[in-house]
Amino acid sequence: MSASTVVNETTEAAANSLAPLKSETPRHLEIDDAEFRRHFNRKAFHIRHHLADHPLFTLPRLVELYRSLPEGHVEYNAGNIPVSQDPNLTPHNGLSPEETIRRIEECQSWLVIKHVENQPGYRELLNECLDQIEPHSEAFAPQMCKREAFIFISSPGSVTPFHMDPEYSFLLQIRGHKTISMFDGADRSILSEEDLEQYLSGGHRNLTFKDEFQAKAWVNELTPGQGLHVPLTTPHWVQNGNAVSVSFSIAFQSKQSEQKKIVYTTNAYLRKKGLQPVAYGTSKWRDEAKYFSYRALRRAFYLFGKEL
Ligand SMILES: [Fe+2]
Repeated sequence: MSASTVVNETTEAAANSLAPLKSETPRHLEIDDAEFRRHFNRKAFHIRHHLADHPLFTLPRLVELYRSLPEGHVEYNAGNIPVSQDPNLTPHNGLSPEETIRRIEECQSWLVIKHVENQPGYRELLNECLDQIEPHSEAFAPQMCKREAFIFISSPGSVTPFHMDPEYSFLLQIRGHKTISMFDGADRSILSEEDLEQYLSGGHRNLTFKDEFQAKAWVNELTPGQGLHVPLTTPHWVQNGNAVSVSFSIAFQSKQSEQKKIVYTTNAYLRKKGLQPVAYGTSKWRDEAKYFSYRALRRAFYLFGKEL
């Protein structure tokens, strides 16, 4: 998102009022609307939540959750790794996912359970949380869609390497303490157009970290009961504190994030063909032309039983 887009949308946001929550919806989050308006999808900001003692996040319950999942919903590795980690060389921890969760206190590991929005209990919780976010986010990221949730479980001292994520998200800290270093996603000395093209067209999330980046970091602490907004494709890395950490990440997409992904995918294709594509956010009509052309092409492929 360009700075000008943010400013325009911030102005639009001021004209909108928040829709009230349905009276029966539990209030899991405490959100400062002024802070939300100031920082959403630009910068990290804290919210508060009431999920730190929720029974869905105890380690025995998370083992049970893992057992109920189809194959491929868990990613895990050793947690004593550098901030700049080549994804092809990420070390394994030699354990099964279930052993990793059971022994997380001492096994120096990092594990994520993906797409828990498909699981009973977690799905309802995600929806209740995002139903609270949506009235705030709608003016900035209209048409919330693709609601997703992830649970991160990590050992004392473990590191999540420098990376970006493709969603708007709020990381709700359930247990333990984390320090999150986040960087301006619009700073092209840290995150290049090519990095974005590579990632949003299907590449790995990890990025190359240089020590000099750290001087530009927004460093945020996260303790149980706190949540942190992570803007779309904002580079960050995480240092776990000296206790086991459990975090619940609630995430979503919007029409705008879908468009951004398609424009970067198109730009990656054009760059591979030797062209110099105009960066996303520079020209509204070009972005829209790429978006609608890509969608038309994808529909045509679909009609012929193929995937784009
Ligand atoms: Fe992340």
